[in-house]
Amino acid sequence: MSLRKYLVGGNWKSNGSMAFAKSFTNDVLNKLAFDPKNVDVVVSPTNLHLPAVQANIGNNVNIATQNISLTGPGAFTGEVSACMAQDAGIRYTLTGHSERRSLFGESDADVATKTKNGLMFDMTVLLCIGEQLAEREGGVTNDVNARQLAAVREQVDDWSNIVIAYEPVWAIGTGKVATPEVAQETHAAIREWLAANVSKEAADGTRILYGGSVSDANAAELITQPDIDGFLVGGASLKPAFHQIVAACNEHKA
Ligand code: PGA
Repeated sequence: MSLRKYLVGGNWKSNGSMAFAKSFTNDVLNKLAFDPKNVDVVVSPTNLHLPAVQANIGNNVNIATQNISLTGPGAFTGEVSACMAQDAGIRYTLTGHSERRSLFGESDADVATKTKNGLMFDMTVLLCIGEQLAEREGGVTNDVNARQLAAVREQVDDWSNIVIAYEPVWAIGTGKVATPEVAQETHAAIREWLAANVSKEAADGTRILYGGSVSDANAAELITQPDIDGFLVGGASLKPAFHQIVAACNEHKA
């Protein structure tokens, strides 16, 4: 079992409504069964719905932005900067989600800059990395992850507030979850990369989450792997199943 505190993140993507944000917070998030000593829980609604969740949520669940801007405040229409997120009391952000990379053209360097910006404003950054199906089939998964991580290493020295979310793109939203063995092997390779390129402390201390079709049916088995420190959950984070996923991590740690 991992020695690190687990983290379970819920990424709502571009889903939800004001009514959903309030009812899901009251009915599911405020009834999650976990000890915050074992597990950090972080939910990431859209920026429009964040205040409704923030206003209704209990103390033990944290909130995150799904994205932050490459820039500081200023004439950047449509963007929300890390400085504003911090001012709004938001302590976590995602960066580099595969949808940001593939649908919105974010480069490895962009993701690195966004990660640096979040860290600069005292946010914990959930840095998402992962390979496409063709890259997995071509045997270059570890090279792709290393490339994405190396771009961050160029801009960031202190990794203590980075959480890595390994999300194979072929597993996101497809129902094709990585097997525990495949996820463990890749997480171990990421940890080796941290040891070689950041520090032994970063390799030992950095939480590496698995994401991609995590559900109440597979979470309990995946979390038994020694290098899996929690999950980043998409679809199932909008359903009552999120309760079981958090509970599975809490039980395994307890
Ligand atoms: P999924 O998404 O759980 O719906 O596969 C995961 C993610 O995109 O973070």
